[in-house]
Amino acid sequence: MIYLNNAATSWPKPESVYKAVDACLRQATFNPGRSNQAHAQFAGAFVDEARSTLGRLIGAAATQIIWTRNATEAINLALKGLLNPGDHVITSQMEHHAVFRPLQRLVKLGVEVETIETDPASGISLSALEKALRANTRLVVLCHASNVLGTINPIALAGLITRSKGIPLLVDAAQTGHGWP
Ligand SMILES: Cc1ncc(COP(=O)(O)O)c(C=O)c1O
Repeated sequence: MIYLNNAATSWPKPESVYKAVDACLRQATFNPGRSNQAHAQFAGAFVDEARSTLGRLIGAAATQIIWTRNATEAINLALKGLLNPGDHVITSQMEHHAVFRPLQRLVKLGVEVETIETDPASGISLSALEKALRANTRLVVLCHASNVLGTINPIALAGLITRSKGIPLLVDAAQTGHGWP
């Protein structure tokens, strides 16, 4: 078999992944952070180490890492946690359903969603993003890479624009990893 769906779910995993999952199941499946007992403390250290490693990878403090079951859950948490009726949110035309569907639901609750132009080759238009920003813009939500077209959004530049206005940028990086521009 020639497996070509690695952007969705990699297979086979690197050998180190099988080893880490095996070690975790054998040594660390206790209650982290819930007891002074040695096994629970060991499990807590295991989780803390994973948090620190991931923090180093994405340039965040370990305390800023929140585990979720998948990208869909993380995106729902962010969108529904941040947006309230009357808020304006900007997004692109190439979002995954994990973004698009909760936004559709939030529209029904009074959130205003604005979708900016997106070019299949170059991604969102930065000038369209700048023009779309308003006083009540609470969030900009963009994928880093499209799961359909492979288009890479100029996410760092989009971040400079949103940061200069003090607006959070939610990045769906489900399709991208460390080292992308
Ligand atoms: C761009 C993008 N966002 C979100 C998701 C949803 O990811 P998950 O399956 O981890 O919820 C996917 C899944 O393929 C995706 O490609």
